[in-house]
Amino acid sequence: MPPIGRDFTTLSIERTAGDLSLISFLVPGHLQNVITRELLRDLATALDLLDSGPRPRGILLRSARSESFFAGADIARLDELRLRTGDEIEGLCNAGRRLFNRLSEAPWPSIAIIDGVCLGGGLEMALACDLRIATREPRTVLGFPEVKLGLLPGWGGTVRLPRLIGPGPAVELIATGESIGGESAARLGLVDGCVGADAALASAIRLLERDAETHAHLARRRRMNRAVELDDDERGFLEATSAAVILGRSGGHYPAPPLILETILAGCSVDPAEAARLESAAFATLARSPVSAQLVRLFRLGEWNRRDIGINANFGDQPPAAPAERPAVVGAGIMGAGIAASHLRHGFSLTLVDIQSEALTAAVPAILDEAAWDRQAKRTDPSRAVGLAGRLRTATSLSALGDADLVIESVVERTDVKRQVLTAIEQAVNAGTVIATNTSTNPITKLATALEDPSRFCGIHFFNPVRRMTLVEVVRGPATSDRTVMVAVAHAKRLGKCPIVVRDSPGFLVNRLLMPYLHESVEMLREGTDPERIDRVARGFGMPMGPLELYDMIGLDTALYAGLVMDEAFGDRIAASPVIPALVRAGRLGRKSGAGFYEHAAAGSRSPAAAGPGRRSRQRGSDATVTALVEPYALPPRVTDDATIADRLLLPVVLEATRVLDEGIVRDVRDIDLAVIHALGFPAFRGGVLAWADSIGAAEIVRRLEPLADLGIRMLPTPRLTEMARSGSTFASLVRLPDSLH
Ligand code: NAI
Repeated sequence: MPPIGRDFTTLSIERTAGDLSLISFLVPGHLQNVITRELLRDLATALDLLDSGPRPRGILLRSARSESFFAGADIARLDELRLRTGDEIEGLCNAGRRLFNRLSEAPWPSIAIIDGVCLGGGLEMALACDLRIATREPRTVLGFPEVKLGLLPGWGGTVRLPRLIGPGPAVELIATGESIGGESAARLGLVDGCVGADAALASAIRLLERDAETHAHLARRRRMNRAVELDDDERGFLEATSAAVILGRSGGHYPAPPLILETILAGCSVDPAEAARLESAAFATLARSPVSAQLVRLFRLGEWNRRDIGINANFGDQPPAAPAERPAVVGAGIMGAGIAASHLRHGFSLTLVDIQSEALTAAVPAILDEAAWDRQAKRTDPSRAVGLAGRLRTATSLSALGDADLVIESVVERTDVKRQVLTAIEQAVNAGTVIATNTSTNPITKLATALEDPSRFCGIHFFNPVRRMTLVEVVRGPATSDRTVMVAVAHAKRLGKCPIVVRDSPGFLVNRLLMPYLHESVEMLREGTDPERIDRVARGFGMPMGPLELYDMIGLDTALYAGLVMDEAFGDRIAASPVIPALVRAGRLGRKSGAGFYEHAAAGSRSPAAAGPGRRSRQRGSDATVTALVEPYALPPRVTDDATIADRLLLPVVLEATRVLDEGIVRDVRDIDLAVIHALGFPAFRGGVLAWADSIGAAEIVRRLEPLADLGIRMLPTPRLTEMARSGSTFASLVRLPDSLH
């Protein structure tokens, strides 16, 4: 059939047999379909055209792209929103909703065919149709990710979803932002059928024709136009349970989830028009909130990072280096096993070498358990584990590395052993093979001298636990080639990580920023501040755990060693604390030994998968033993308040970041914010340590540091900060690399 109306840029319309109209979307200039201004205009024109011409019996909406129905709103529009008044934002919500209402009020039934991602505004459009059919392809996911940007759906999502699937599941879906596949969507009643992609159009036509015959859609529309019946008990229960879960997850720092709950519950008891008004008002409030501004910026940083190839020359249009296809890991300890599991999980076949066969025997089941971990079911999928076993090759000799094109060394943290292993790896592999080390403290420059060709060598520093920590530091030594960096960066991305490239320097970036935070907590402990108070203040700021809790998780022995490295390099401000060796001598190594700054009880199995993401060992308060161990190193007591505790923990991190910038350790100021969020759990709602510093302002930071000056150089403003305070400039203004990447 010929297309109707040829002057559309984002869609086409054709008449099918049986007098149905088929609208196919293809939004140009984007990798996936997104809802742009042009799309909204074209959709309005298309509906006008259908209204004014010979009326179809029904309309089908689908994407001409197989990978996306609609990935949501055009993110570029969100920044424009922030510049508008609340009334203007509400007006935009109302306009979009009115357009979608034309589908739900049309004289004919409509169906959306959902193949590929269907998120946010795309799902709102689909919800405005009378029917939805999803494909069961893995690429098909449905959800409302707005909450992750500090927002809620503003085009009818909070009005229609609870009416369709019930308020409880609607709150769950919208407040978590999680997406679900086609089959789960069918089980929830979010779609009316789930079929293979090949059968989608025919099935949709069948469903639509049935509605056109029976007018069943009219009864459904009546149901969708009523308030949702919820008795007081149901409402009370939903309110209490959801509020508790939301508070637990958000720590009270994110305004969107509680407002989503409130808006959905309030919208249930009124008619859709009033519910829509509540939705617009809530959207306008959130769109103008500083938290949403930070989350949108972070989203853009993530996009920018995904496009970054790791080097600056001809940024953006360098030919990509051939990706590594035959990776290998040497060392099957805690980290090697985690790195191996990550490879299997992301579809790689892998060679794993360890000098000790017992280490391999112990590691393999844990690796397979973790790689086959089913996040939804919260257990290992045994059949998947069996399948993955065929892709893991183990060996006790480096001769197994013969065909590897990327080798990640992760053996014990001993310089002599590492140098020896790196030399042997180079002898075992081909000339083009990239060799990387996962060292956390050895300078890359020093290890590189063990190789004949140091240009093929770099650090790929993963964080523990590998499955959860998304940041990876790609460490560039003076001899590392651009190609090596590009291979390492591309490889980390294929493992689902966020790689940042840093120049070789003690502690690289992350540990260098972490150490002042950890160090200051022990100084405050020595001054007599209660450890639980220090940790509580840090958590109150939004950190996932306090510094003393973190010490216990890292392990006091590991921290001791890292502390010595930092002391040697930056002892004027990050001196090794005598308290840490005292705890280590007393056998208090943290969680792994059952006690550190706190007492710990083991939480079930130690295997990484069985422990499951996020599970914590139970923790009891610090005891008299710690007080006694700290006592010989006591410092003059200081009266302090919570705000000062927070400043003392975090302002030295800002100061260290200014030194990192001075030394050119990072390629772009934004990498610092990505690093602290993805490696240290710095609160996303604050946008990273430098975005947080900008939100306070350099002059105010200098003012807050003044009363702390007697603590020494670690609290003195750096020349860069002093200059920023004088000129009123911000870290954001230091962005160097092109913004067009956004
Ligand atoms: P680990 O002690 O658990 O495992 C080291 C493994 O290397 C052992 O299985 C050992 O048998 C093997 N090995 C020793 N010599 C070898 C040789 N010559 N050839 C082959 N294998 C050999 O150590 P872990 O914790 O896994 O650390 C490994 C590396 O990862 C270290 O460089 C460490 O600094 C780094 N790292 C550790 C983190 C952590 O939190 N544990 C975090 C980030 C990096």
